[in-house]
Parts: sequence; C-alpha cells; structure tokens
Amino acid sequence: MTSTTDRLEALFASRVRDVVPPLFGAAGEPVRPLISLSYGLADPILFPRAELMAAAAEVLAYEAAESLNYAMSYPGLTDQIVARLQAEGVAAQPEHVLVGYGSGQILALLPEIFVEPGDIVIIEAPSFLGAVRRFVQSGARLISIPVDEEGMNVEMLADTLRDLAANGQRPKFIYTIPTFHNPTGVTMTLPRRRQLVDLAAEYGVPVVEDDAYIDLRFAGEPLPSLAALDQDGWVIRVGTYSKILAPGLRIGWVHARREIIDRLLMVKAEGTTGPFITRLVARFCADGRLERHIATLRQHYAVKCATMAAAIRRHFPAEASFVMPAGGFFIWVQLPKGVSARALLEASRARGAEFLAGTACFVERERGDNAMRLAFSFQSSERIEEAIAIIGSAFADL
Ligand SMILES: Cc1ncc(COP(=O)(O)O)c(C=O)c1O
Repeated sequence: MTSTTDRLEALFASRVRDVVPPLFGAAGEPVRPLISLSYGLADPILFPRAELMAAAAEVLAYEAAESLNYAMSYPGLTDQIVARLQAEGVAAQPEHVLVGYGSGQILALLPEIFVEPGDIVIIEAPSFLGAVRRFVQSGARLISIPVDEEGMNVEMLADTLRDLAANGQRPKFIYTIPTFHNPTGVTMTLPRRRQLVDLAAEYGVPVVEDDAYIDLRFAGEPLPSLAALDQDGWVIRVGTYSKILAPGLRIGWVHARREIIDRLLMVKAEGTTGPFITRLVARFCADGRLERHIATLRQHYAVKCATMAAAIRRHFPAEASFVMPAGGFFIWVQLPKGVSARALLEASRARGAEFLAGTACFVERERGDNAMRLAFSFQSSERIEEAIAIIGSAFADL
C-alpha cells in the first residue's frame, strides 16, 4: 500500500506539484529574536488606530445592513479611487475600476485572464517576487528585462519585442513597478515612461503598472504615471491601500479598459470585495484625511530612509553602493565584488539581523547574489541603526 503522502501527491495539479515555501511564514510561527529588514511591512506606529476605530463605529452605526450582509463593495470607495487617479492626470472612470483583496489578488487574477501555459510575460529583473510567483504559477514563460538607475531598460525591451514580433510572438503583458521600484527603489525616468507607453501601443502589449509606492515620495518632483501618459488604453494600473493606510485591510484595485475589467470579474469568483472594509476605508479617507495621512507617512519614512542610508555609509564597506531612493520602502545595496548576499545573510542572522538576499528577487535563482534589499519601512530608526551595524559587522566574517 502506498503512503497517504504519495497518494495525495498524485492528486495535485501540476502548477503546485513542487512546493515553493510561502513568502511569509504561516500565521502563529514564533517570531525570531532577529531585527528583520527583510520585508516591506508598514510601520505599526503609523496606523491611525483612533480614526479607524471611529470609522468602523460609524459604518456599524449607519450602514450595518449594507456592510454586514452579502453585498457589493462600496461604490463610494471606487469614486475616491477615480478622483485620485483623475488628480494624477488619468482619464479614469468608475466602470473601469475593480476593487480586490489587496493588489496581490489583482496580480493573481491578471494571468488568469491572459495567460495560457507557455505564453510570454515580460517582467523586470529584479522584481517583486510576489507578482512573479503568481505569473509563474499560471504557466507563463517569463522574460526578464534588467532594471538600472533609470528604471526598466526600455531599449532592451524594444529589442525583445521586435525579436518576438519577428517570430510572430506577442507577449501577454509587461509587468513594471515604475515608481520606487521593489526591490531596487529606483524610479523610471520620463523619457523611458514615454517610450514604454509607445512600445505598448506599437506592439499591442498591455503594460501592468504596479504603483504600490507612488504616493510615498519624499524627495524630488512627481512624474506622470504610465496610466497618465497612455492615450490608447494599454496601461493596466494596479494600486493598493496597503502602503498608504494598512496592509491588513487587504484593499487594492485595478483601473483598466472595460474589456479587461469584465474578464477580471469573470475570474474573481467571490464577485464583490469586503462590503464592510470598503466602507471603512472610504470613511477614513474622506474629506482629505487620506492625503493628510500620506503627508505624515512621507515625512516619517523620509527620516527612516535617511537614517538607514547614513548607517550604511558608516557601517558597510565603502565598495557597497546604492542609489538613494526618493520614496518607497527599500534600499537596494550592491555588495562589494566577491561578497555573497546569501553568505552575508547567514553571518548577519547569526549576529541578530536579517535582510532579503537579492537572489529572492530574480526568477533565475542564480542571479542577485551580489545584492541585498533592506526595508526601512518597518523597524524604528534606532533598530535600523542597530541592524545595519550588525550587518556591517558581519562583512568581517566573509
Ligand atoms: C510592488 C508591490 N506590488 C504589490 C504588493 C502587494 O500589495 P497588497 O498588500 O496590496 O497585496 C506589494 C507588497 O509588498 C508590492 O511591493
């Protein structure tokens, strides 16, 4: 008799046959006594708890019937999303918005409507692995385009699209994080943005613009989003309340052409999204409160970013280099020649601090061992200092 494990294994669909560990540990896993700079968690001291409590009480007092029953997500939240997009210069309309359980859900649904196994999806290298994993699961063939200090290398993208077209191949979409990129922190320049939008229209390939961090700018002037530059409807703009309010609320959204929204609705099996949570978020955000909250976040994250950058300069070898981000949650450090991120991570953990090795941000596992991602979002300035000093001391072990 074969074992239960063997018999169960044979039942799993091919896309989940090989177990890939989850990005986050299972709930309830003991927290290790390490100072972690690994993940882009929000800073808990910034959660507007009193205002969220008041908003929740108001929803329960005045909208209990609609918010606690099976019901549609709140159209008032969609109107707020549309208003923010319009303020950014996007010709947004409510019928073109779908709210989901975090932008992560939207990123999982997009390949469901576009990708058949073997279809091509273009991504940046490095990229947000949460998205990449979802695309891989759909059976997509991923083609990576490098990111440099000006964002995705759009010249290389143009070459790739030309070569593919010459073979009669059209990618299903291009995934990019143009502003305060995860993990590198860089922002795509305006000329590249224009070129990317032009390429999308020329080759008929949608661009998924994941602008999770766009509002968290603490230096320099805002650039137009790809969606704002897009004249022909090729940009699928994905956004989230996770970075500007609270990730635990699980509210994200997508703005795209109606053909795309209709297909997303077909695969979003539960139909609606959080009647209660969408009302809560909308009440919190009303009357300019979201924008005031974002202004506070910007100031706070600017200080922590500067603290981290100064600590890196003090504690890391001079050959460790980074591009100072103008916003977002991360600093991406290129390690000195010959230093392995994975080895440094091991040495740092032994001393009490951790970060994300660059290898976690590439599809090809052998890449990225010369870089590390440091999140300044979660820990306090004091803990950031401490962690960077620990990691700095771990260089000596290598
Ligand atoms: C670039 C990017 N997109 C999307 C997400 C997912 O956000 P959400 O909480 O909305 O699922 C993250 C979270 O880290 C991210 O960094």
